[in-house]
Amino acid sequence: MIDRVDIERMKGDELINLARVLKVPITKRTIQRSWLIDELMGELEKRSSDGSPKDALHQPAIELDKVTKRFGKTVAVRNLDLQVHPGEILGLVGPNGAGKTTTLRMLTGIIRASSGVIHVNGHDINDSPILAKSSIGYIPEKPTCYPSLTAREYVTFIARIYKVPQETALIRMREYVDLFQFDEFINSYIGTLSKGNLQRVLLIGIFVREPPYILALDEPIYGLDPRGAWNLKKLLKRMRDEGSAILLSTHILEVASDLCDRFVIMNHGDVVGRGTLEELLAIQPEATSLEEVFLGLTGGIPE
Ligand SMILES: Nc1ncnc2c1ncn2[C@@H]1O[C@H](COP(=O)(O)OP(=O)(O)OP(=O)(O)O)[C@@H](O)[C@H]1O
Ligand SMILES: [Mg+2]
Repeated sequence: MIDRVDIERMKGDELINLARVLKVPITKRTIQRSWLIDELMGELEKRSSDGSPKDALHQPAIELDKVTKRFGKTVAVRNLDLQVHPGEILGLVGPNGAGKTTTLRMLTGIIRASSGVIHVNGHDINDSPILAKSSIGYIPEKPTCYPSLTAREYVTFIARIYKVPQETALIRMREYVDLFQFDEFINSYIGTLSKGNLQRVLLIGIFVREPPYILALDEPIYGLDPRGAWNLKKLLKRMRDEGSAILLSTHILEVASDLCDRFVIMNHGDVVGRGTLEELLAIQPEATSLEEVFLGLTGGIPE
């Protein structure tokens, strides 16, 4: 169901583009914005009337079963069991070198696990890599992207790959460009963007797709300014409430406490604690915060 507010926030050239996609004839020489919006709403309502249900996510959406990754003699991840269900944000926390990025890279099929089984939306990452990978949205620790595309071209390209209807893609792009205050950069080449802005394009590229989402986010808040971080946190909570499954790695414990429903704490490749904040605090009666639980489980609280 399209909200009129979503259309009203679109710029003039975007409305004309939407009219072209929806085949709304523009015959008048001068067109009033309100007239055009009425016409577009009418056409969009006709199209969305089939009310077909969205595909629900598999339960669990992410599943790692006894996953190990070795780099030579280094065991980066040891025997990891982990599940993320639709409707929750799981925080993967741990000090530098704990194995968080390695876990997310195995989960997204960038590197192969040495042993163990990984399922994304019910698809085995080794047996059905295309289905598994296409089910997930990934923000890497060090974002990279096609430098010679503009941000708009990239998001349009992603929408086409994921077969998002053109009109939906145009409306969603405007929604998230506004949310991440990206208007200034939407026509910039990706190669010219700062780290935080690159992260924003990748996020817009994920959210242009059809929800609910399975997300693997590696330190997603780190590169963003306070407003961008605030907006992303609010958005992730909304996505979670609408049924997305989110795995988020971070060592910013303030972010983790605020955002995550459950935690898996890693240290040197091992899981050293897991559960909700209440469960973790119950195991460590002397701790009063996630920070103290974390420090207690990963080498002790410094004097
Ligand atoms: N490609 C690689 N080759 C060799 N060793 C690697 C490789 N990638 C990761 N490692 C090692 O695996 C371990 C886990 O690294 P990883 O990047 O997963 O940690 P992390 O928890 O993401 O740390 P950080 O908080 O610093 O991002 C480290 O000891 C790291 O040096
Ligand atoms: Mg990392």
